[in-house]
Amino acid sequence: MVARAVFTPDPNEVIGTAERRLFGSFVEHIGRCVYGGIYDPENPFSDKEGFRSDVVEMVKELGVSVVRYPGGNFVSGYRWEDGVGPLEERPVRLDLAWRSVESNAFGLGEFMKWSKRVGVEPMIALNLGTRGIQEALDLLEYCNHPGGTRLSDLRKSHGHKEPFRIRTWCLGNELDGPWQIGHKNASEYGRLAAETARAMRMFDPALELVACGSSGSGMPTFGSWERTVLDHAFEEVDLISAHSYFEEIEGDRFSFLSSAVDLSRTIEKMISIADQAAAAKRSTKKLGISFDEWNVWYLSRYLEANHSAEWRSTPRLCEDEFTVVDGVVVGSLLMALLRHCDRVRIACLAQLVNAIAPIHCEPDSHAWRQTTFFPFSLTARHAVGCVLAATPVSPVKESKLYGEVPMIDALATHDPERRTLAVFVVNRSSERGSFTLNLGGFRGFGVIEVKSLFDEDSEATNSNSDPNRVMPRTLNRRGGDQGIEVDLPPVSWTMIRLAGRIR
Ligand code: AHR
Repeated sequence: MVARAVFTPDPNEVIGTAERRLFGSFVEHIGRCVYGGIYDPENPFSDKEGFRSDVVEMVKELGVSVVRYPGGNFVSGYRWEDGVGPLEERPVRLDLAWRSVESNAFGLGEFMKWSKRVGVEPMIALNLGTRGIQEALDLLEYCNHPGGTRLSDLRKSHGHKEPFRIRTWCLGNELDGPWQIGHKNASEYGRLAAETARAMRMFDPALELVACGSSGSGMPTFGSWERTVLDHAFEEVDLISAHSYFEEIEGDRFSFLSSAVDLSRTIEKMISIADQAAAAKRSTKKLGISFDEWNVWYLSRYLEANHSAEWRSTPRLCEDEFTVVDGVVVGSLLMALLRHCDRVRIACLAQLVNAIAPIHCEPDSHAWRQTTFFPFSLTARHAVGCVLAATPVSPVKESKLYGEVPMIDALATHDPERRTLAVFVVNRSSERGSFTLNLGGFRGFGVIEVKSLFDEDSEATNSNSDPNRVMPRTLNRRGGDQGIEVDLPPVSWTMIRLAGRIR
């Protein structure tokens, strides 16, 4: 049966602004994300600095704004000093997190150059697993102090005259996870995060600091971890992190397609915990959320894979090939993040290249776009201005994991200055859908384009041999000034772009 949804966006009902930092990503020293991904000095596709030029161009096209680095699990055993200075002096180390051999040929300086090249803002994660306050302060001095001290002069001697001026710092990574090197309980971490933040603010009160939230809403620590951490660190930090990964489990496609419901609930629970912490401290501060790891990730495949006991450099890890369904889920997760733009201030698609990534490359061929690339790049480019509060009237369906979920969901952004309206629509149904967009509040707006990610084979993927197998396609629409109707393909993510006549 065709699901019919009606959507009536109202320009006066606004949630907040679609900030660019919601379109962030993440580069970790994992598998072939850094080495053989963004950095591959011997490769003919690379420039003189060793950066893969095809990847650089694709990252720009993706529309990424901020990039978190260098981990992830990796950072909790990382010594930043290993990755700076003359290449020949950098030590080769074991990376326990991903059982890899780390050459340290790529480090902070290379990352800063690469960030500049692609035009993204860096967001640096500190090691609060095996290290502590002093090493965090040393790194801060190396990065942000102009000169005249041991560590700032060391940076200069490494060829970086100007300070990096890194504003946003993550105080560790997923420290409630028992897999994390230097795993801690909430009080241990909360104290360390608060004291590290206090010391860092003695250097620069304007830094933006992110405390670790729990590593996932499915963790037994979720909720209590945040409460305890904020009890210690609420006043010292600006944001608390959230991480969520989704995969289809046991063929339960509808729950998988409803992952955005879970993401939204996670955000709402975290807001409520942050606001309780504020109330307990008689504070009016609205703590932000940094959703600095989110994506579809076939974690079960990674865990089941028979990983070699050997120590390897740049092993192929987490190189998920994403299907059309995965792309549709990523599009709907972005809609959920935008819907919470009043509190989610940063969001990072984890990750960027090769490992759990929208961009894939092999040594001997041009990089290609995975299915998940398209909803991200289209949303990053066109979700501009105000995020509107409207939700569609849609039939619901019972999902195994999340109860009743709308078959069709939609979200609109409106830029009053440029008079543009973008509507993002997900059809979770395995049947066609009918979508009516009422334009009562947007008189004189006309459609520019309707682009949709779908396929007759929802398992279709792009690959090295067929890099353009899946691409967004143009859909027809009916109607005019009052509203339009679009027939939504089964399991699809669609963007409808409109503009108003210039007055
Ligand atoms: O993104 C892959 C891993 O997922 C990260 O290293 C870690 O933070 C999370 O568990």
